[in-house]
Amino acid sequence: MDHVTERKWDNAVRGYDLMNGYGPEWRWAPWKRQLFSAMEGKVLFVAVGTGQDIQFFPPGCEITAIDISDRMLARARPKAEQYDGRLELRHRDVHDLDYPDATFDQVFTSCTFCSVPDPVNGLRALRRVLEPGGTIGMFEHTGSRFFPFGMMLDLMTPLTRRLGPELNRDTPANVRQAGFVDVRVEPVYLDVVKVIHAVNPD
Ligand SMILES: C[S@@+](CC[C@H](N)C(=O)[O-])C[C@H]1O[C@@H](n2cnc3c(N)ncnc32)[C@H](O)[C@@H]1O
Repeated sequence: MDHVTERKWDNAVRGYDLMNGYGPEWRWAPWKRQLFSAMEGKVLFVAVGTGQDIQFFPPGCEITAIDISDRMLARARPKAEQYDGRLELRHRDVHDLDYPDATFDQVFTSCTFCSVPDPVNGLRALRRVLEPGGTIGMFEHTGSRFFPFGMMLDLMTPLTRRLGPELNRDTPANVRQAGFVDVRVEPVYLDVVKVIHAVNPD
């Protein structure tokens, strides 16, 4: 477990729902609902945070939702208890998963790979626990190729990474580098917010 990252996100819990809960969740709700509607089989969700995404999970699924921050998980617990299906919350570091190989049929993420310290190795760890042929579905914000957004995100990242996420990551490239195939990117907003689909090769 990476305790530096754990502490950072434990500290970020204060104000998290206020900052992210209302506007952003309302705005991105249709995209998230659509992405998560494909959940089936054994699903790994990374990282659940305070549980804002749980409202978009379709009922009746079998989901293991992990996060590195116990404080985030404590906020997620009441929402998880309301979920109409099997939803287990687990305190785990994505770089250090103790699940056997090929445990899960699908992986989903939501504003996750802006935040984990080593995204390519985190994604490789997900490939190990995902069935060969299994899919990953990601709702992520990334850097942008558009001027001036890309430059602004580069300038802001040294500050934001101290308190929370990095704003300028190239997550589609990281997904490819980690060995996923059939990577498909759906632009959501300004080349910054994206839905990414990919497959774990056989
Ligand atoms: C920006 S928040 C997103 C949370 C939630 N998905 C949402 O959209 O509100 C990023 C989350 O990643 C978690 N995280 C960061 N590094 C992690 C790691 N190495 N393993 C598991 N979770 C991690 C943080 O604790 C935090 O809850």
